[in-house]
Amino acid sequence: MKKVIIAPSILSMDYSQPSEQMDLLKESNADWIHYDVMDTFFVPNITFGADLLRGMKKRTNLKLDVHLMVQNTEMVADIFLKEDIHCLTIHYETLKEEELISLAKKIKNHNVLAGISFKPKTDVNKIIPLLPFFDLVLVMGVEPGFGGQAFMESTPDTISALKTAINKQSLTTLIEVDGGINQDTAKKCIEAGVDVLVAGSYVFKGNIKENIDSLWKLS
Ligand code: DX5
Ligand code: ZN
Repeated sequence: MKKVIIAPSILSMDYSQPSEQMDLLKESNADWIHYDVMDTFFVPNITFGADLLRGMKKRTNLKLDVHLMVQNTEMVADIFLKEDIHCLTIHYETLKEEELISLAKKIKNHNVLAGISFKPKTDVNKIIPLLPFFDLVLVMGVEPGFGGQAFMESTPDTISALKTAINKQSLTTLIEVDGGINQDTAKKCIEAGVDVLVAGSYVFKGNIKENIDSLWKLS
């Protein structure tokens, strides 16, 4: 079976010791670092800008997976496209379809993977026609905005629906899941066909390396 990609979400990192925590991630089986950007408008929380990302890049060789949860997606995307990132995910709800498609093209032109995400209440059938334009689709397991929330049990069905659509169109779009991931919920998502697991509170509570291994060993 193909190994899943593990992307710890640094939203739940212990910021009293960021360098130590970054070093533990570097020594672990993590593949990407998930970097949540929030602006208080699209979600009721505020997080990180590009300066912090640039600093982190100096401390890690892991790929940066940037998840934009902002109202002004086009402006914030331009800021992060100046950085050394692997993937940039934008939210369906923030732009018109033609704007989403044109931003996906721009992201790919920067040699960055273009991702699309959507809130749990958004109908997955609205996302399916957009899949050919994106490299990755990020399924939210919780309402975006905060770490440590409970996993929505409908999430694996959403992943299965996307997997079926991707296979039917012979696409190579990766499916990522974000929110409420632990050993049990990760197993359900892997069975449904997920390729990338984002985990915040589960990874950073306790032993970071062991927690990552417990997810890594599932696939
Ligand atoms: C929530 C963020 C997630 C968050 C997940 O809006 O997008 O990346 O860090 O946290 P956990 O894994 O604790 O649910
Ligand atoms: Zn996220």
